[in-house]
Amino acid sequence: MDPTQYRQALGSFATGITVISAPGPGGTPIGITANSFNSVSIDPPLVLFSLKRRSYSLQAFLDSETFAVNILREDQQDLCDRFAQAREDKWSSVGYDIWDTGCPILHDALAKFECRIRHTYEGGDHIIIVGEVVRFEYDPNGKPLVYWRGKFQPMAPDG
Ligand SMILES: Cc1cc2nc3c(=O)[nH]c(=O)nc-3n(C[C@H](O)[C@H](O)[C@H](O)COP(=O)(O)O)c2cc1C
Repeated sequence: MDPTQYRQALGSFATGITVISAPGPGGTPIGITANSFNSVSIDPPLVLFSLKRRSYSLQAFLDSETFAVNILREDQQDLCDRFAQAREDKWSSVGYDIWDTGCPILHDALAKFECRIRHTYEGGDHIIIVGEVVRFEYDPNGKPLVYWRGKFQPMAPDG
């Protein structure tokens, strides 16, 4: 199988973009850009994302036992870029609150889900992390950042 072709074929699937966050070591926030987020179950309320084994934050996510999903708005491309880099100061000058589990929640995200980790599964070069949603908020009128074929895509205008 040609890995480049395989990646490009997978890119046919349009997604939103999230920042997955957690309280890192000593409560210092951690976060990564991820488009592998998906809903799993309504009752109980379960969601998942898959985390690269080579992610710098891997152990911190597994240790924290909680995570939050911050779904980005159409004008938050800068946050997508920021949290996709392995850098020390991802959270400097970013507005966030701390919710009940200690997860940092981005102020202006389109939707926010706070979760407790319920299952982890081997997923090849990723680990699949399933969480139970314990709290959420969303803006029913905002628009998401959309990612397709490796690029951000404008949403179709309201019709
Ligand atoms: C659009 C986009 C989607 C991404 N989706 C994921 C993902 O689902 N899982 C993942 O582990 N990394 C994903 N990444 C890569 C991480 O954001 C990136 O490796 C980041 O540097 C990880 O941070 P860390 O090394 O500080 O842990 C994605 C990056 C981009 C730009």
